[in-house]
Amino acid sequence: MAIGFKNRALRSAGVVALISAFGTPLLAEEIFIVSGATGSDLQDFPAIVKPWEDKTGNKVTVVPMPSSTSDQFGQYRLWLAAGSSDIDLYQTDVIWAPQLAEHFVDLSEAAKDLIPTEFPSIIQSQTVNGKLVALPIFTDAPALYYRKDLLEKYGVEVPKTWDELTAAAQKIQDGERAAGSADFWGFVWQGNAYEGLTCNALEWIKSFGGGQIVEPDGTISVNNEKAAKALETVKGWVGTISPEGVLAYQEEEARGVWQTGNAAFMRNWPYAYALGNSDDSAVKGKFDVTTLPIGAEGDSSAATLGGWNIAVSKYSKHQDAAISLALYLGGPEAQKMRALMETHLPTIQALYDDADIAAKAPIIPQWKNVFLNAVPRPSAPTLGKYNEVSSKFWSAVHETLAGNGSAADNLAGLEADLTDLKGEAW
Ligand code: GLC
Repeated sequence: MAIGFKNRALRSAGVVALISAFGTPLLAEEIFIVSGATGSDLQDFPAIVKPWEDKTGNKVTVVPMPSSTSDQFGQYRLWLAAGSSDIDLYQTDVIWAPQLAEHFVDLSEAAKDLIPTEFPSIIQSQTVNGKLVALPIFTDAPALYYRKDLLEKYGVEVPKTWDELTAAAQKIQDGERAAGSADFWGFVWQGNAYEGLTCNALEWIKSFGGGQIVEPDGTISVNNEKAAKALETVKGWVGTISPEGVLAYQEEEARGVWQTGNAAFMRNWPYAYALGNSDDSAVKGKFDVTTLPIGAEGDSSAATLGGWNIAVSKYSKHQDAAISLALYLGGPEAQKMRALMETHLPTIQALYDDADIAAKAPIIPQWKNVFLNAVPRPSAPTLGKYNEVSSKFWSAVHETLAGNGSAADNLAGLEADLTDLKGEAW
């Protein structure tokens, strides 16, 4: 990445000496944090971090990353493997803790007052062999977004099963196209070959009763009839209720179609709620959210557990300031700002009873039980191999959806690959 790190030494040499209230000189530090760019996260960041900058006199510079978590992971691994001190803090996906743990500072002592205010399962997800490798800044669980106005116009109920969703999406799409909206689609989601497809496909398979790829005890379960049925169902959407191009969509492409008023339904994370209700959105006030559909009566809805954290690099030369910043970003003040500005789900329990959040971001209290029951990706059981497990899984799914091989054959091939990868044990 050529984002001007060479200037870091020069800039640090020019840091300002401040005088604290007690007359002791404080040296302002420049802290580099690396973060992905979904939604308005990067635009909002300066306002979120300002109280900490004002209090400490330090300055925070964000190094922007592509929005794909898979691309971020590849870049992070390069920096960390090289022991780079260019980056002080990394914004990390919930699934990465076991794979990156060795490069990060243990935050359990520094965060000892914050930890009891958090949901224990989230702290657990970032704890590897007793080490707290990252502090949660928000959690994530997706929703089915639907257009209230269009469901009413076409007299359709909020769908409970994927078949009902398919029928509703088709009906609304046919009607809107006949009325002149040539670019209108029934359902948009994330079909690109990346981590987001792993999330979508885990939801389809789990909600058809087909398990969770690799079970918590390490068993490879993905090659089964229910999983194949789920994938064949989704294949039927491509080019009918979903554009062919959905196989290249990540979160932001789906939101683009939805927010310009060109889709009846969307699968996306809660961040799309605030943006969908912004003043320049064509769907402002016209939509609501519900849980993702199920395969059939008796199945349960499945939402993949997502979420982001802040980790402090072991190679940082500004560790004290970096830890202080991590505590601020994971703390209640910053989390409340993110909830209000970005409808990101807090990880601090009390914020679910916060009156300002309930008024401005009603999806947050509404989504508490959804994320508490969300399905984790198999990153804990597959340890350092999760990234390979996920990329083999999303590739098999992508091939199936693109028409290259049947779901049954591709899942059988995937099972064989995962068995090789596992070897004696994960
Ligand atoms: C969201 C989730 C994250 C997931 C990603 C996939 O950012 O929070 O956990 O990996 O989407 O695209």
